[in-house]
Amino acid sequence: MLSANSNTDQSLNLVHRPRRLRRTETLRKMVRETTLTVDDLIYPMFVMEGEGQKVEIASMPGCYRFSLDLLLKEISEVSQLGIGAVALFPVIPENQKDDTGTESYNSEGLVQETVKAIKKTVPEIIVITDVALDPFTTHGHDGLVDENGVILNDPTVEVLVKMALSQAQAGADFVAPSDMMDGRVGAIRKALDAEGYINVGILAYSAKYASAYYGPFRDALDSAPKFGDKKTYQMDAGNSKEALKEVELDIAEGADIVMVKPALAYLDIIHQVTINTNLPVAAYNVSGEYAMIKAAAANGWIDEKKVILETLTSMKRAGADLILTYFAKEVALMLM
Ligand code: PBG
Repeated sequence: MLSANSNTDQSLNLVHRPRRLRRTETLRKMVRETTLTVDDLIYPMFVMEGEGQKVEIASMPGCYRFSLDLLLKEISEVSQLGIGAVALFPVIPENQKDDTGTESYNSEGLVQETVKAIKKTVPEIIVITDVALDPFTTHGHDGLVDENGVILNDPTVEVLVKMALSQAQAGADFVAPSDMMDGRVGAIRKALDAEGYINVGILAYSAKYASAYYGPFRDALDSAPKFGDKKTYQMDAGNSKEALKEVELDIAEGADIVMVKPALAYLDIIHQVTINTNLPVAAYNVSGEYAMIKAAAANGWIDEKKVILETLTSMKRAGADLILTYFAKEVALMLM
C-alpha cells in the first residue's frame, strides 16, 4: 500500500516539490499570502424616502432600497457583524430632480438627513457619501449639461463642492466624488478645509471607467442617463496609463484614498495603481459584477459562496486594501 506521503514516489528525483506546501489545510493557511477579512469591506447601501420600506432591487437580488427607519436597523446589524463603513446612495423621487441637481446640496435632503440619523444611532460606523449629480438630475448625468448636450466641467465642480460641504456638515466621515470631473478633488479639499472640516476625508473615484457593469445600479436609483453615455467623463476601457495619470492628479489634489472602478474587469489597473502609490487603494465590486454571480448561482451553475470569496480575494491579491461590495453583509456572515 502506498500512503499519501510515501517515499516511493521518487522517480523524477525532483529538488522542488511545490505541492509539499499544499498538503493540508493548516499548511495552506500558514503560507497563504492574501486573506480576506471583514475589515476590508465597505457596504454600499441604498436609501429611499418613506417609512417601513424595504424594496428589493430586481437586478440585484439580496439588495434593497431601505427607508431611513429600516436602514438604521440594517446598519446597526452590519456594524455588529464587524463591517466598518457604509457608502450611501439615495433614491431621489422624480419630482425632486431638476436639470442642475439642486436637491443634492439641500441641507435637509435625503442623504443629509440619513447621515445625521446614522451618526446619532450608530456613531462608530464610518459614513461615506457619494458626490455626483446623477441621482438628482432629470437627465441622469453626473454633471451639468449645456444646450448641446455637453457635460460642463467647471460649473459642475462648483455644485459638487456645495454637495460635499452639505454632506460634511451633516456628519459624513468621507465624501466620495464619483463624477469624474477634472479638478473636483482639489476644489472639494479646499472648500472643506476653508469651512473647518479638516478631518473629513476624500475617497476619490480616481480611475472610474465608462462601464456597462453599472447597469443594475442605475436600475436601483432609476438614474440611467436619458441621452448619450458617460464616455466624455468616465474613462475608456482600453486605457491603463490614463488611470495612473488620474490617480496622480487626485493624490496631488488631496485624496486620502484612491479607487479603481469597476474591479473584476480591471484587476490589472488595481495592481498598477497599488504599486504606484502609497495611499490606500479601494476597489469597487460593482452592481453588474454582483448581478452576474447572483444570476449564475440562482441557476445552480456555480457555488455562490465560494465564487464570492474567490472573486473578492482576487481584488485583494491584485492590491486593493478596501473593497466596496454588495456582498459585504453576506461575506461578514461567512467569515464569522
Ligand atoms: C454614479 C455612480 C455609479 C455607480 C456609483 N456611483 C453609476 C454611474 O457612474 O453611472 C455605480 C456603482 C455600481 O454599479 O455598483 N456617479
